Amino acid sequence: MKTIIETITNNEAHDWKIFAKASEFLKAGGLVAFPTETVYGLGADTMQAEAAKKIYAAKGRPSDNPLIVHIADEKALRELAAEVPDTAITLARRFWPGPLTMIFKKRPEVPDTITGGLDTVAIRMPSHPTAARLIRESGVYIAAPSANISGKPSPTLAKHVIDDMKGRIDMIIADDTVDIGLESTIVDMSAEVPMVLRPGYISLAQLRTVLGNVVMDKAVACGEQLPADVKPKAPGMKYRHYAPKAPLTIVRGTPDNMAGFICGILEEASAYGDKVGVITTDEHIHCFTGGIVESLGSRSDGQAIARNLFAALRKFDEREVDIIYSESFDDTEVGQAVMNRLIKAAGHNIIEV
Ligand code: TXA
Ligand code: MG
Repeated sequence: MKTIIETITNNEAHDWKIFAKASEFLKAGGLVAFPTETVYGLGADTMQAEAAKKIYAAKGRPSDNPLIVHIADEKALRELAAEVPDTAITLARRFWPGPLTMIFKKRPEVPDTITGGLDTVAIRMPSHPTAARLIRESGVYIAAPSANISGKPSPTLAKHVIDDMKGRIDMIIADDTVDIGLESTIVDMSAEVPMVLRPGYISLAQLRTVLGNVVMDKAVACGEQLPADVKPKAPGMKYRHYAPKAPLTIVRGTPDNMAGFICGILEEASAYGDKVGVITTDEHIHCFTGGIVESLGSRSDGQAIARNLFAALRKFDEREVDIIYSESFDDTEVGQAVMNRLIKAAGHNIIEV
């Protein structure tokens, strides 16, 4: 399949054609990848069940893993959700448009292919101007998972989408202004007490400030090794995910101890001819010689660390490293989502130093 790749330039005459073309594909049941403020999404028309099936095929995604529906106004929410509690309106008024996905009991019109057969639907109103304009101009509620091959880190650059999706979808809208770098916070509003199913940029503390009582799904609480009988409530959270090809180990300790330990490993592994990938911060990057070393930013800049994590994981695949070591990060605010993704990428492989 030929994939059209177009870049947003903020020249209106040029961009107008991009949105018109992308809208045509969506309305015809095709697939279009587009940027959002969190990560790139792979979109199709929610109401065309056959279009959603193409998403699963392009990603190699298990069909029991439901998609998020992207909307541009509150009216759309009423057309997709059967029950909208007042608490959800409160959250929507505070955090939409933005990186928050809410789960509701679904209306029967929402096809089962979107929801993986569940009686609930996940809905998000993105703030990224390209995403918002695409939803408005196409008039389509856009069902979109992250635009990566299933199991790989989510794409934060057009290059990542092209690597994964070229030849598999109709169009890629390139616009490298993805800012957050981690997927949205998911809150289940169909539960008695709102429950966070996936941590994201909007933290549990922020949600509690607005609503009071919000709980975290036990199965995703940061850093825990899951007992075999505890299953995450978001089907997607049970799969191995965000995983680079090489095995990844997280090192936990004081910043100096972490860097010292990884330096030792690097020396030893290099002596054996192993190519080592290292995730570190600006404060310690000077400590390392050799290896493929990626700084995610300053340790005190949680947003930079979030923004750069997935690109670093993908770079290790590109450079074909044999083994990866990462420092661990503060797990408050957006750091909670960073550590959630990192721990999943490492398959819970953590060393205390
Ligand atoms: O930031 C984001 O959320 C990005 C952008 C593109 O919007 N999208 C994204 O989609 O991360 P995806 O498909 O990669 O992750 C969606 C997650 C999966 O873990 C899925 O299982 C969960 O949402 N999910 C979707 N519908 C659900 C439902 N009805 N009940 C529980 N979990 C649901
Ligand atoms: Mg995903």
